[in-house]
Amino acid sequence: MEYKITKTKFGERPDYELPKPIFLEEMGEEGLVKLFDKFYDLLADSDIGNFFPQDEEELKKVKAHNVKFFIEACGGENYYSQTVGHFDMIKAHEPFSITEKARTEWLGCMEEVLKEFDISDEAKQSFWEYLETFSKHTVNVDTGLKLPEDIVKI
Ligand code: HEM
Repeated sequence: MEYKITKTKFGERPDYELPKPIFLEEMGEEGLVKLFDKFYDLLADSDIGNFFPQDEEELKKVKAHNVKFFIEACGGENYYSQTVGHFDMIKAHEPFSITEKARTEWLGCMEEVLKEFDISDEAKQSFWEYLETFSKHTVNVDTGLKLPEDIVKI
């Protein structure tokens, strides 16, 4: 299992594939609930903890919202569409200043949690690739060095 992270080219919105059905089959809904419970606890304590509620009850709500989304994204019941509606990845993340470093931290927390689950590499790899690619859509702050041609001359 390789937890590879490739760099985001600022502004790119790469196409991505949804996780293979095998991921949800092996994890089950309860597995996903456990995964996101641990993941958000880790995120709340991480270097990007300031993005997330520190209040236990509020964090519970975020966990519930997200797990609905991910069950649906993994090919399960459409809990998110039924209760929240349409999801817009760019809009949902707009209120937060997400750098490439923040994305890497987010993925790092996911790697730590995924390692605790005893499922096949094929299932994990497929979920990881979905997250690794789709998370590039959330990066909305450019901290990259500019090339001379990018600098506007007055
Ligand atoms: C594939 C990657 C990702 C997916 C599919 C995803 C999906 C979501 C979803 C479904 C929500 C909840 C929207 C709602 O309230 O209905 C959300 C909220 C959020 N996401 Fe992401 N996200 C991803 C990556 C990231 C990354 C990389 C960061 C930051 C580094 C991030 C930070 C947040 C924050 C701060 C919230 C709001 C939490 C709150 O409600 O307080 N997400 N995301």
